[in-house]
Formats: sequence, structure tokens, C-alpha cells
Amino acid sequence: MDFKEKIAQLISNIVDMNKSDIKELIEVPQNCTMGDYALPCFKLAKELKKSPGLIAKDITEKIPDVEYFEKVGAVNGYVNFFVQKEFFISGILSDIINKKEEYGKSDLGKGKNIVIDYSSPNVAKPFHAGHLRSTVIGKALYNIFNFIGYNSIGINHLGDWGTQFGKLIMAYKNWGDKETVERDDVKELSRIYVKYHEESEKNPSLDDEARGWFVKMQNGDKEALDLWKWFIDISMKEYNRIYERLNIKFDYFTGESFYNDKMDAVVDELKEKNLLTKSEGAEIVELDNFNMPPCLIIRSDGGTLYPTRDISAAFYRKKEYDFDKCIYVTAFDQNLHFAQWFKVIELMGYDWSDRLIHVPFGLVNLPDGKMSTRSGRVVLMEDILNSAVNKAINVINEKNPELENKEQVAEQVGIGAIIFNDLYNSRIKNVVLDLDKMLNFDGETGPYVQYTYARTCSLLKKGNVDENGILGESEYITDEASYRVIKLLEEFPAKVIDAADKYEPYIVTRHIVDICQAFNKFYHDNNILGSEEKIKKARLSLTFAVNCVINSGLKILGIDAPERM
Ligand code: ARG
Repeated sequence: MDFKEKIAQLISNIVDMNKSDIKELIEVPQNCTMGDYALPCFKLAKELKKSPGLIAKDITEKIPDVEYFEKVGAVNGYVNFFVQKEFFISGILSDIINKKEEYGKSDLGKGKNIVIDYSSPNVAKPFHAGHLRSTVIGKALYNIFNFIGYNSIGINHLGDWGTQFGKLIMAYKNWGDKETVERDDVKELSRIYVKYHEESEKNPSLDDEARGWFVKMQNGDKEALDLWKWFIDISMKEYNRIYERLNIKFDYFTGESFYNDKMDAVVDELKEKNLLTKSEGAEIVELDNFNMPPCLIIRSDGGTLYPTRDISAAFYRKKEYDFDKCIYVTAFDQNLHFAQWFKVIELMGYDWSDRLIHVPFGLVNLPDGKMSTRSGRVVLMEDILNSAVNKAINVINEKNPELENKEQVAEQVGIGAIIFNDLYNSRIKNVVLDLDKMLNFDGETGPYVQYTYARTCSLLKKGNVDENGILGESEYITDEASYRVIKLLEEFPAKVIDAADKYEPYIVTRHIVDICQAFNKFYHDNNILGSEEKIKKARLSLTFAVNCVINSGLKILGIDAPERM
């Protein structure tokens, strides 16, 4: 039962305002002594030119008696609604038990495509912590939008083109060998790339040769392109290992090179629209009027750039997927890059430029400080994943040494802990890779949520509840702790929508933690399996509903939910 809808309906009969506008205004008070729902009358006061207090009082007097509200009262300019608890509880529980993993899904985004550009590492360079963040946040957004009915399209915009490949070819020819590259993959490629930079500082003529190789690549030279393709294959081996462990998939791997034959058209259009200016041999779009440095389109040597490829990619995606939104998940240090080229699209006269959304995130730090390339403290992602899994194994050996398939559960717990830690705060906050903290089963962590989920599984198993669930009578659910759980379950669908509106997966994460905490309090306060049959049935149905919602939540976040741990 949609209580907000009911309230909006009742009020639209009293005041002159349409139902959906009223629905927008309705809040869920933090403090339940203020009711289950509240309508603030401040906006209405402006329109009706009466004080909020008077309007609230007026509405309260005129509202008819309905069975599903126990009490309606006016306090400080709010109309507070207290739902009839039994009605509320049975409504939520039966809804969840009917829909199971479908509970909370909606068709808000029906017929709309959302493109999500995430992960996108740079070939031949290690997959670093920033790419991990992009991967995890991007995938969560992908799931969040799918959950509310959009068609998400996930794209890995690999950094697989640019002058650096000329340098890498030089590096390989001078200091590399096939065997070592095949054995050590990206590690070896980045080693020879760094070596190249050291050498080219002493001997700048290397750069001319490297440029020569990139020109060869652009002209379709077979040797150059074969090497380039091989570098991509080698790099993908590492990336795919990581994607597999994180259970990440993409719909398309259309990297930067995919746009090589699509940039001329964009450059021509920019010329036609008189947006290009020559500056020191390069072609740029001036953005002085918008307080931004110019957007570089063509370099002085004729080469294209990162923004040129992003602009071309946006046109391609618009045409190919007719997106409702196209979302880019990268670290905040690319804020200017995106602001610049979004502006270029706007200046070209396309009103869909406001459907291009940059979703930035903060840095990744180690517990003892910043991770930086200069001090040599780059942490390899595979090492991080391995350490998390090793720690998880230790905890399991300590807590539950008899557990079957320990290795598999440790993988789920270790990886889950890392994903959870990334999605626990607002994106823009820095993430600290503190393995001890993220693997603490008693903190607000991935393992804590997984453990709570496993607890629901074990209760259901012991109570002989199968996957069809169980529906008890709501009159046997009377205590505050149980009611708090039900209220949180009811809010879950709205939280997912809110997360989509704000591009903030943490809203789902936090809500799942709230549900776990409330459930654990319920579990602590109530005897479940040992109670009298009717009460037991009611409590098991609450447990079943919690089990469904935690499972959905973890799925959205991309975290596995082991049934035992
Ligand atoms: N390859 C870039 C990097 O590692 C991220 C690409 C993001 N996507 C985009 N369309 N620009 O910094």
C-alpha cells in the first residue's frame, strides 16, 4: 500500500493543489513520535496566503476518517499521519513476500537508456585504486538505474590510443622482450614505459622516434598496429582478472581508439560553426567567457586529444543509444575536462549537453597517508584484493573454522569488504584502504552486512522456511524493534530512487546497514524460533522480508551474499 499516495489523494480533495505535487512534499519524520508521514505546510502557506499552522489545523479537521490512519494531528505547521500499524505491517510484509527480489523495483525509467562510462583504465598502465573506485561506483549506478526500470548500458572507455603508444613501441624495441612481457604483463609494460621516460630525458631524440611510431600507427602500419593490439591484449589479461573477481561486466569495450574514424566529422562541424581558433599551431575552442581555459581539439602536430575523442564518443552514443543520460564516473581531478567539453557540445547547439553528467569521486588513501606515484607508494589493485581475501580467511579460521568452502566465502567477504568500504560514504569523500577496519565484523562494514544476511538465512533454515517465504499475521508483531525494521523495509524503494537521483550509491549502502542494525536489535529483543507458533510465524516472515531486502541491496551494490559464513 502506497501511503504517500493515499495521503496525497486525501489532501488533494481538501486543498487546491494537484496530487503529485502534494506527494512530493510528504516527508518521513526521523522521530516516529511525529508520525509515520508528515506534510509540511510551508509551501502551501505561500500559495494560500495563510499561516502554515492554520493550514495544518484546517487540513487536520477536514480529513475524513480512514481505516489505515490511526491518528492525524497538526503540530507546528505540519500535518502528522500515524498509520494504523497492523495495516502497515501486513501491507509491507505481504508486498515483500509476494515480490521477493522484485520488491522495490519500479518502471520509472521505462523505455529510457542510461549510458554509464566507468572503469576505463589506460592500457599498459596498472589498474590503480582510482580505476577501482570508478569500477565499483559505476557498476552500482548501473544496477541502481536498472532496478528502477532504466536500461543501463555499461561502457568501458579504455585509454587505448594516443602518443604514449609510440613511446611504448620504442620502449619495447629497446628494453623489452616478448617472454617477459607475456609473463609479467602490465607490470613489465609499465616498467619499460618508465625506463623510456628516464632515457628520453637524457636523449630527447627518442621522442622524435616515438612520434614517428605513433604516426605509423595512425597511418595503419602493420607492425605498429600489431604491437599496439598486443599491448592491449596483454593489459586486458590483468584487467579481466580484476573484473572477474569483482564480478564486473560491460556491455561495450569501446575505447578511445574506437573513435579514430569518427573525429573528422566533429572537427568539420566545429569549423563550420566557427568554434575553432588557432593558437600556437593548435586548434582550440575558446572558453574565456565561461571562465575556463580553452578546450584543446587538435594538437600542433595534427594529432587529436582526449577531449576530441570524448566529444566524438558523446555524438556516437547519442546516435547509437539515444540516451536519456550519459554518465561519466571518474576522479574529481577531471572536473575541468568534463566541464570544458560539455560546454563545447552546448556551444555546438545541442540541448542534450545537459544530459551529460560527470559523477566525480575522491581519492584513495592508505591508513598512514596519501598514495602517490612519486613516492613510489602505488598500490597494485590485485595486491589489495589478495590481502583483503587473506585477512578474511584469517577471520573465518578464527570464528568458524568448520565452515565449508572457506576459500570461496573468504573471496566473497574480502572483495565485498572492499566494495562496501568504497560505497559507504558520499562519493566525493576520500576512501581509506584500511583493511583491518573494513574487515571488522562488528563495524559498519561489508562483513557485518553479510553476517547479518547469513544470520537471516540460518534462522529461515532452522524455521523450515523455503524460498517461497512465509506470511504471518501482523497482529503478532507489536514491539518497537520489529516496527522499526518494517519501517526501514518500507523506505527501501524510495532510497534506491534517491540514490539514482543523486548518483550516490552510499544512500543504498547506509540504508542496508540501518536495516541490519534494526534487524539485529529485533533479533536480540525477541525470541524467534522458540516462540509460540503464531508469533514464531510472524517473526519468521519479518526475517524473510529482511532477507529479501538485504539480498537486493547487496546485489545492487555488487556484493555477494554468502548464506553461511
Ligand atoms: N582513461 C581515463 C583515466 O584513466 C578515464 C576515462 C573516463 N571516461 C571518459 N569518457 N573520459 O583517467
